[in-house]
Amino acid sequence: MNDNLHQLRCIGCGARISGTDARPDFRCASCGELFEVEYPGWSARQGHDRPNPGALKWLWRERRCSSEVLDHSGVWRFRELLPILDSFGNAVTLREGNTPLYPLLRASKALGIDQLFAKHQGMNPTGSFKDTGMTAALSVAKERGYKWVACASTGNTSASMAAYAARAGLRSLVLIPDGKIAWGKLSQAMDYGAVTCQLKTDFDGCLRVLTQIVMETPIYLLNSVNPYRLEGQKTPAFEIAEAFDWSVPDHLIVPGGNLGNSSALGKGFRELHELGLVARMPRISVIQAAGANPLVRCVNELKGSSIEPVEAHTRATAIRIGNPASWRKAARAIQETGGWCLDVSEAEIAIAKAELGSEGLGCEPASAVTLAGLKKLRAEGKVGSGETVVLVLTGHTLKDADYTIDFHRGTLLKAEERAGLEAEINGLRRDARVVEATTSAVLAAIKDEMR
Ligand code: F0G
Repeated sequence: MNDNLHQLRCIGCGARISGTDARPDFRCASCGELFEVEYPGWSARQGHDRPNPGALKWLWRERRCSSEVLDHSGVWRFRELLPILDSFGNAVTLREGNTPLYPLLRASKALGIDQLFAKHQGMNPTGSFKDTGMTAALSVAKERGYKWVACASTGNTSASMAAYAARAGLRSLVLIPDGKIAWGKLSQAMDYGAVTCQLKTDFDGCLRVLTQIVMETPIYLLNSVNPYRLEGQKTPAFEIAEAFDWSVPDHLIVPGGNLGNSSALGKGFRELHELGLVARMPRISVIQAAGANPLVRCVNELKGSSIEPVEAHTRATAIRIGNPASWRKAARAIQETGGWCLDVSEAEIAIAKAELGSEGLGCEPASAVTLAGLKKLRAEGKVGSGETVVLVLTGHTLKDADYTIDFHRGTLLKAEERAGLEAEINGLRRDARVVEATTSAVLAAIKDEMR
């Protein structure tokens, strides 16, 4: 590896090690905490490795018109800020990133916010934000000669890992909680040839088992405890800053599960700021499902000092995680940017998802927590009408079609979950009707809808 360019720093005790010296579980041998990638050359202002902001902005824009395969990737287009490979020729890419930033016209009107956008990470090759991290970490696995890669997953990481492993000619092992992931995601892992094991436990249990396996077997761990995942997942921050012509939005709202994504986006904006590419960082807020909300207590009551795991329950299965690995990094991103951490109910998630759908922007339930959270923040006066807000939509709507169909059929939520919100929910529901195959019957259906 290019250890002169990057090293790993423990976020607990500050120990620094070379990338190749990390333990297979990516935990610090002294204190057990996680590592993050750092680039020593950047910190010395006069350091010859320190990237030049003006040159980088120009170069990254030029690459959009390039015919080089690596330049087509929205991750590797920014490769000067993730020099983690000996040779970029080892990068395994499916042309991830470069995802759309959509204005949310109806939601911004309803909330009285002038500038509201959705950064749709579900528009990645396997349908979730995981691809931006997977291209980075799987490329490291390939370069270091691993034959097997593995992850524990609530579904999206496994779909992404299986696809990238298949492209690289590596074998992959997936551990998922039995019966608790969306079928769309499971089908992807199977199709891409992963060895898929459904364990009779939750996500946290799967990660525990896998951590033991990688300590005993030469299998490369690709969960977001792997710091190279976060290097790829920081690049949407670069895309967002670029889309706003390097004046960052006021507020970024991210769903929180295992908390790798919020950590990575925080790192991305922090690096842009430290390198002088942007003048400030956006506020970063993390939203969790009320049934899987350990970070909420960690940030609001324990001031980011520790986390108390919870037994997680939510239909937003992607974020059904009770003991998030990257809590310390995520808490730091929230605290240093003045963001908030809050949770939203099952009904609030379902409503927000249907509202996004009604704007033509489908997403996973886990992604919809961002809009549900924004509504709460706005109601509490924590987001002003003149602010520019970006919601990070993490997964594609087709990942979990069952959830959407159940919502529109009215079978998703229990009566007690719907209580007080029936009118709002019914106003959003669009059930499919069975109609006679005649013109008059179809026209009657339209008339009925217009009433
Ligand atoms: N949204 C979606 C669609 C996800 O799949 C996940 C995590 C998150 C949000 C939360 O991101 O963990 O970085 O805080 N899914 C993981 C998985 C855990 O296994 O696919 P996070």
